[in-house]
Amino acid sequence: MRRKFRNIMIVLGAAAASCSVLAACGSTGSTTETTTTAETAEITTEASAATSEAATDAATEAAAAVDYMILVNKENKLPGDWEAKLPITKIQNSLGDDVEVESGAYDAYLKLKSDLEKDGVKVDLDSAYRSVEAQQEIIDDFTVRYGEDYVKKYVAVPGFSEHHTGLALDLYLNIDGKDVYMNEDMVKYPEVWEKIHAKLSDHGFILRYLEGKEKITGYNYEPWHIRYVGDVNVAKEITDKGITLEEYLNVLPKGDVAPPAE
Ligand code: DAL
Ligand code: ZN
Repeated sequence: MRRKFRNIMIVLGAAAASCSVLAACGSTGSTTETTTTAETAEITTEASAATSEAATDAATEAAAAVDYMILVNKENKLPGDWEAKLPITKIQNSLGDDVEVESGAYDAYLKLKSDLEKDGVKVDLDSAYRSVEAQQEIIDDFTVRYGEDYVKKYVAVPGFSEHHTGLALDLYLNIDGKDVYMNEDMVKYPEVWEKIHAKLSDHGFILRYLEGKEKITGYNYEPWHIRYVGDVNVAKEITDKGITLEEYLNVLPKGDVAPPAE
C-alpha cells in the first residue's frame, strides 16, 4: 500500500507530535523520535546524555515486552491492550511524511536499509503503525479511488490490520533518484523486490503476503509489506520453508478468507 496514505499519515503525525529526542537518522537524513505510547521514555531535546540513556533503557525494556510473533489477520483481531504498551519510534520519511514504527522493528529496519544500500537498493518507509481510525480512512479513500474489490484484496478491515501492531512495514523504492511509491508503479520493479526480499530474514523480517498463499493470508501479493518477527532464526525458517506466518504458527483460517478472484 502506498503513497495514497501520505495525507492520512501527515494528519496522524501532527496529532501525535510531542517533542522528544530528535536525532539525525543515518542514511536518510530524516528525523527520529523515540517514545512509548505509555510515555515512559519522555525525553526533551535538552536532555542530558544520562537522561537519554535511561530513556533508551526504558524503550528497550518496553520492546522486550512486545510479542513479536503476534498474529493479526482476517480472523485474529488486535488485542485490546496492545497499543498502550507499544514502544514507538516516530520518523519522517524522504517524502516528508510522519511514520510511526514499533521501536525494535525500526532498529532492524535501519540495518536492513543500510544492508540494501550496499547493493545499490534504496528503500524508505511509507507506512507502519496505523490506528484503527487511520485504517478506516484508508478503506474510505481506496473504495472511492479503486473500488470495493481492490479494497478486499489489499486492505484489512479496521481492528484486523497487521499495521495496528506497529510490526508491519510498507516500503517504497527510490529508483535512479526518484521515489516510487504507488502500488502500480512499484510492481514494475520485480528485480528490485527480489533483492529486497533476499535480505529480509537476515534482519528478522518476513514477506507477509506471499504469491500463491492468498487463501491463507487473505490478501493479494504485496511485495512492499514486510513483517518484523523479532528473531532472525524464525524469519529464516519461515522464509526458507516458503510458508506464511499462519502456517508457521499452525493457525490456519477456519473460514474462507480468500480475496476476490482476479
Ligand atoms: N494491506 C494490509 C492487508 C492491511 O491493510 O493491513
Ligand atoms: Zn502493509
